[in-house]
Amino acid sequence: SAAPTSAPDKGTTGVFSKGRAAIAARTLRTDRWWLPPLITVLGFSVFIIYATVRAFVRTAYWVDDYNYLTPFYSPCLSTVCVPGSAHFGTPVGELPMWIPLGFLVLPVLLLFRLTCYYYRKAYYRSVWFSPPACAVAEPHTKYTGETRLPLIIQNAHRYFFYAAVIVTLINTYDAILTYQSPSGFGIGLGTVIITANVVMLWGYTLSCHSCRHIAGGRLKHFSANPVRYRLWTLVSKLNTRHMQLAWITLGTLMLTDFYVMLVASGTISDLRFIG
Ligand code: FES
Repeated sequence: SAAPTSAPDKGTTGVFSKGRAAIAARTLRTDRWWLPPLITVLGFSVFIIYATVRAFVRTAYWVDDYNYLTPFYSPCLSTVCVPGSAHFGTPVGELPMWIPLGFLVLPVLLLFRLTCYYYRKAYYRSVWFSPPACAVAEPHTKYTGETRLPLIIQNAHRYFFYAAVIVTLINTYDAILTYQSPSGFGIGLGTVIITANVVMLWGYTLSCHSCRHIAGGRLKHFSANPVRYRLWTLVSKLNTRHMQLAWITLGTLMLTDFYVMLVASGTISDLRFIG
């Protein structure tokens, strides 16, 4: 059969290849199938624009009185980091303005999420249109899956998972340091927000599909590996919430940074509960 007349320029591969039904309509779906991809792309865009701007501004990322550090700048390793914010020393000298102070954390944040199984599903549909929705043909004429560059990099996800665990440990350390005030022990709204963000980040990180595989993968007999079976069961339960945790942590990351920015810039003062 010939290629459909409605799309003569699409070539003869993919859904337009010989042997596929020649359907003139772009899709036979009559519902608002484009709404979920649209919402997804809007959500991503908000986060990407916000995080990019904040990554480069180099202002209002540290509250000295309460040790609040935004996760986008942690660890801060440069000699230009605000005094007190470099919890792990300053092995890196001055950085030009085009290199963010969070140069270590940002690529991990980006690559871990970009290669995440959930985010793949989301942006393959919403950004890459491969395909945009069930029963909606994709505009691409060729499909090579994740077998070629750049998508073959998706296979490195497990390594980004290890890196993300280290980053989350660093964030945990940062969070513990917030339980103080100039007079000693203290808890403020910032402490609560930063701690909640870390808890959610652990939820997102440990619910990762790679983590699930590390916990229980490649075993022939669960009965011979009761500890790993138990871990796998726990991660599996968390894994069912991975999508929610992916979105929640996008929100808590922005909220944490935004709150630290407001307090650090003196726009508001931290609401203190203790100390
Ligand atoms: Fe989503 Fe690993 S972080 S699958």
